[in-house]
Amino acid sequence: MSIPCPRLVHDPEALNSAAWPVPADLLVTPTDLFFTRSHAPTPRIDPRDWRLDVDGLVERPRSYSLDQLLDAFPRREVAATLVCAGLRRDEFLALGPLPGELPWGPEAVSTGRWTGIALGDLLRAVGVGDGARYVELTGLDSVERQGRRFGFGGSIDLAKALGPEVLLASELNGAALPAAHGFPLRAVVPGWIGARSVKWLGRITLRDDPSPNYFQTKAYRMQRETNPRDPRDISAGVALSRVPLNSAILEPAAGRVVPAGRVRVRGWAMGAGGRPLASVELSADGGARWSCADIADRGEEWTWSLWEGAVELRRGDHVLAVRATDCAGERQPAAVGDTWNVKGYSNNAWHRVAIRVE
Ligand code: MTE
Repeated sequence: MSIPCPRLVHDPEALNSAAWPVPADLLVTPTDLFFTRSHAPTPRIDPRDWRLDVDGLVERPRSYSLDQLLDAFPRREVAATLVCAGLRRDEFLALGPLPGELPWGPEAVSTGRWTGIALGDLLRAVGVGDGARYVELTGLDSVERQGRRFGFGGSIDLAKALGPEVLLASELNGAALPAAHGFPLRAVVPGWIGARSVKWLGRITLRDDPSPNYFQTKAYRMQRETNPRDPRDISAGVALSRVPLNSAILEPAAGRVVPAGRVRVRGWAMGAGGRPLASVELSADGGARWSCADIADRGEEWTWSLWEGAVELRRGDHVLAVRATDCAGERQPAAVGDTWNVKGYSNNAWHRVAIRVE
């Protein structure tokens, strides 16, 4: 399915882009509308030469070709929403600049149907060694940071890695992974920030400590206090893992002009770490009064849900707002000031959208 949708492009090489606005009624994002977030150019990989090395604290280190991997383990499919940690960073920019960070709006999130093998099946086959607590995932791209070149990577907890939902995916939405999304094989870690779903996977290493990769130790960390000696250093922060509870208005998109009367409002919401939702509420006055929205499509275990509501609006300028509560009772914070952090990650304040009614 191909739906004409303009793409917002956030860098000169178009490595970071997303369709916007996206249709509010699609639980699964068509591949050509899926956002891309890459820290370096897409590597050219010949699948015949590609290998996946599995090493570190394993009983039987191994190197697999793609065919060996896909033949050795059962095929698994998971629908999962990939959320970039920079989602809705642009709202932080109203509070001050965030030098060097991409100004993502609400577009850096998409849902895919991923097919491949379970990471847990592979780990059980090589044997988890004594003391292993983290699974490090390293890509075959070449990122430059601090004068060094290396593959993008990071780690996830062993307990998460053994969950049936964590895949090594070779397909997105029923077709081979497109190059930009990690061909020939990528990790998909549902419920965790997108950065841990490492693309162009080349190596899996079991460790007793978290990955020393730059993107685990120096980026994708939650740090709320600025280091006065180095304002961009967040190495003292906590590594990001589970995505926060979040919701967003997809329709009407910010800045739209709509006719007076009953206005249909639609969007998505997802519980913390992919948890189910309890409720979604909608406000037509920026958050003073709220009414319940319908969860129109509950989605699958690791995906967003789609919600829908209606508000009566007179002519003039209005601010719509949405907030969700998940089944553990967690609620979204009211203001971006409540969630501000040094690199502008994980903004999950109530999502507000200014529109004009004529
Ligand atoms: N994997 C590699 N090898 N290199 C990257 O730059 N970006 C990560 C993750 N995996 C990245 C990567 C980030 S930050 C996100 S949000 C997701 O990939 C985006 O996946 P997508 O481009 O398929 O949407």
